[in-house]
Amino acid sequence: MTAPLSRANLIIMGSPGDKNASEDRSWKGYELLASGNGQRLEMWNSVTILRPESEARWPWQNDQILPQPQGYYSGDRAMGGTWSWKASLPEPWIVHRGSLSFLIKPTKSKHLGLFPEQDSNWDWVTNRIASRDHHTAVPKVLNLFGYTGGASLAAAAAGASVTHVDSARAMVSWCSENAQLSGLGNQAIRYIVEDSLTFLQREIRRGNFYDGLIMDPPTFGRGKKGELWKLSEHLPYLLNAAQEVLSEQPLFLLLNTYGSAIESFNEGMPETTISKRLERIGGSCEVIKLGLEGTLDAMWIPCGTSYRWSA
Ligand SMILES: C[S@@+](CC[C@H](N)C(=O)[O-])C[C@H]1O[C@@H](n2cnc3c(N)ncnc32)[C@H](O)[C@@H]1O
Repeated sequence: MTAPLSRANLIIMGSPGDKNASEDRSWKGYELLASGNGQRLEMWNSVTILRPESEARWPWQNDQILPQPQGYYSGDRAMGGTWSWKASLPEPWIVHRGSLSFLIKPTKSKHLGLFPEQDSNWDWVTNRIASRDHHTAVPKVLNLFGYTGGASLAAAAAGASVTHVDSARAMVSWCSENAQLSGLGNQAIRYIVEDSLTFLQREIRRGNFYDGLIMDPPTFGRGKKGELWKLSEHLPYLLNAAQEVLSEQPLFLLLNTYGSAIESFNEGMPETTISKRLERIGGSCEVIKLGLEGTLDAMWIPCGTSYRWSA
């Protein structure tokens, strides 16, 4: 779900055109029910869970009608918290969206291996790939900081040849499991365990160019050899390298950021930098605010900002 920010001219809502009318891309098994008091209450394939949500800075609404959670997360995320369950979990635990299927697992960092709020970005990527000239070669898409592969799966399902990069081997394996579950086979996605900037620089040196680039960097992270990734320091280097890895006639570039780390830069830095770097091609960069709305309380949780450039 997407909504406008206040910087009116630059910010647009995710357009209805993000969805392909012929395919039902609604979630089967995921629903944000409600949020409040720094928590979110969700339904993940019939299991109701409660977990921390720093953006939910309001009291619970309608709390008398909210279901009791069957599982909840407690403790310190940074140190690794714990999950408590009242019943056994589905095995395997899977949610679906359109042709894509995702394996869900509770992790120590409070996440379950999927960011459902990214769905409008997956649709946008799908539509950019679908809108290409079909007489040209299969488009090559690079997904950096790819996690469990939501965007990689969407791009592969749309017909792209995808390279999925993440520094955590476990995440890359999880993406491969999701690809199998989604019926994408072994050929659609190339899996790389590597630091994103290192991989990007290597591809530029080798002259390996991509028609689409997806980047979803965390605020802090570590490369394969422990290299520090700090968004507030390294984002400009990432954007610089990004333009060099794009082909002569690229289809798109997508950058997603979370939380307030982006505020350490001048307002408008990502979209201005992207547009300037891609001046040779033209195109335009939209800024989209991502979020999720509770089905039981209609409260909207902001979930990050996306920068979508297309030719
Ligand atoms: C916030 S998640 C990305 C979410 C994902 N794109 C999605 O929507 O499903 C960040 C991912 O970046 C990875 N990561 C962190 N630092 C990295 C680095 N330096 N190079 C490559 N991957 C990194 C983490 O392992 C994690 O899987």
